[in-house]
Amino acid sequence: MAYGFGVHRCMGNHVAEMQLRILWEKILAKFPKIEVVGDVECLTSNYVSGIEKMPVRIPT
Ligand code: HEM
Repeated sequence: MAYGFGVHRCMGNHVAEMQLRILWEKILAKFPKIEVVGDVECLTSNYVSGIEKMPVRIPT
């Protein structure tokens, strides 16, 4: 759903996924432990699904 569907499906989805993979590799290399510390709130939308809020704690 996030990249659309049909003839207008996102042309950059593989670039976007590669960028996200690299981003998470860098974040997790620097902060290997990320704890979820509160309730997760989901997005209310008929168009996209996703997370609105997810409180986390990064121990230093
Ligand atoms: C997380 C990142 C991205 C998301 C969530 C996303 C999402 C989408 C969605 C939902 C559509 C369809 C829009 C519609 O149905 O009218 C779309 C179209 C498109 N996206 Fe992405 N996109 C992302 C990243 C990118 C990147 C990095 C590029 C280019 C390098 C790109 C290029 C395009 C193009 C050219 C279209 C139009 C395709 C067409 O109309 O035939 N997108 N994108």
